[in-house]
Amino acid sequence: MACNYNLASVLGVVLVFTLFHDPITVTGQNIPAVALFTFGDSNFDAGNRKFLTGTRFPQNFWPYGKSRDDPNGRFSDGKIVPDFIAKFMGIPHDIPPAFKPGVNVSRGASFAVDSASILGTARDSLNLNNQVRRFNQMISNWKEDYITKSLFMISIGTEDYYNFTKNNPTADGSAQQAFVISVISRLRNNIEMLYSSGASKFAIYTLPALGCLPIVRQEFNTGNDCYEKFNDLAKQHNARLGPMLNDLARARSGFQFTVFDFYNVILRRTQRNMNFRYSFTNVSCCGIGSHNAFGCGRPNVHSKLCEYQRSYLYFDGRHNSEKAQEQFAHLLFGANPNVIQPMNIRELITYPVNTNMSEFWKEPVGRNLLLVHEYDVNASASM
Ligand SMILES: *[C@@H]1O[C@H](CO)[C@@H](O)[C@H](O)[C@H]1NC(C)=O
Ligand SMILES: *[C@@H]1O[C@H](CO)[C@@H](O)[C@H](O)[C@H]1NC(C)=O
Ligand SMILES: *[C@@H]1O[C@H](CO)[C@@H](O)[C@H](O)[C@H]1NC(C)=O
Ligand SMILES: *[C@@H]1O[C@H](CO)[C@@H](O)[C@H](O)[C@H]1NC(C)=O
Ligand SMILES: *[C@@H]1O[C@H](CO)[C@@H](O)[C@H](O)[C@H]1NC(C)=O
Repeated sequence: MACNYNLASVLGVVLVFTLFHDPITVTGQNIPAVALFTFGDSNFDAGNRKFLTGTRFPQNFWPYGKSRDDPNGRFSDGKIVPDFIAKFMGIPHDIPPAFKPGVNVSRGASFAVDSASILGTARDSLNLNNQVRRFNQMISNWKEDYITKSLFMISIGTEDYYNFTKNNPTADGSAQQAFVISVISRLRNNIEMLYSSGASKFAIYTLPALGCLPIVRQEFNTGNDCYEKFNDLAKQHNARLGPMLNDLARARSGFQFTVFDFYNVILRRTQRNMNFRYSFTNVSCCGIGSHNAFGCGRPNVHSKLCEYQRSYLYFDGRHNSEKAQEQFAHLLFGANPNVIQPMNIRELITYPVNTNMSEFWKEPVGRNLLLVHEYDVNASASM
């Protein structure tokens, strides 16, 4: 077993260097000194949940943070995407959790909370609207023109569709559509609230391939297949996200955004794992069950922990390994429009403020998104 996976990793490395450019993002060059604000769920939670509820949550305990020897409230074996983005932006430290008392938020803060949803509110968590309100309570920390230049990243929605699927297992097409429309419309309201407070640069994630999460494969017993019904809901949400943001950009002066196609980023890695140097994409590194997907970090659960986190796409049943998070951050910052459009984050934060965008989000037609290049052919040279 160990032997197989070593060979597999070596092959993966060879493949990726021959087939793909893997540019190293250079920190700080020509990047304005602005702040990074993040909103959403556990993908972006920098430790807020502990400060909100004072309760002990697994993500504050080993083996979370294992690769850094530091459980820090993040759902990963180490750092998460916003930590890397902050670094690429030249911010000299990680973005602090906004709910931690006394933090220095001069270069931004994380408002994201584990289990946060757009509609409803999960127990011991906050919804997106509560997070936006918190931002508004703290707004005297930043000048308005600084807010306008700063980057707002949002990753949320998984919890809403989980909840919907559990409560409405037999929902038909029109019930699904009505739910998706209500989620997208509430998301729009919250983005508009941030815009009213001065924000103008938004980077928004699509939902990932929810049906391919190890915890979903495990709960719904799909074996080595993804749960397509769940993927389909994510696709419906994603199809309405770009058009909603296009509308906003056309209606609101100086509104700028980009959409990160997280769905296909995950699916490419799931289906062509070796090209991206993952030996395991259908099971997680830490947890128990058929897909090792449950209970990582929980007391009283004797969860298994893999030997080498970097060969896994998922660290626990639902969250990506640090290696994957770092790959995503490079994509967000420097990838081409197959991955993030109409521009990447490097372009978004250098785009002149108070200017309308000249390009909009377009539905990708006729491209096989599982086979595309993620970086421009000359990207390494131009960085
Ligand atoms: C907050 O951090 C910034 C650097 O990010 C620093 O310039 C500033 O002095 C700090 N403020 C306080 C009150 O420590
Ligand atoms: C889950 O759905 C129920 C019933 O529709 C709702 O009351 C609750 O607020 C929802 N929770 C979340 C986190 O969306
Ligand atoms: C995960 O994928 C591997 C390789 O395709 C397969 O052998 C294994 O059975 C899968 N594991 C599960 C739990 O589906
Ligand atoms: C920018 O967009 C807004 C909203 O559509 C519009 O009112 C404004 O005239 C546009 N500004 C320019 C310079 O085109
Ligand atoms: C890539 O670089 C080559 C050589 O410098 C140049 O001829 C070509 O136009 C570049 N392609 C793009 C898409 O920028």
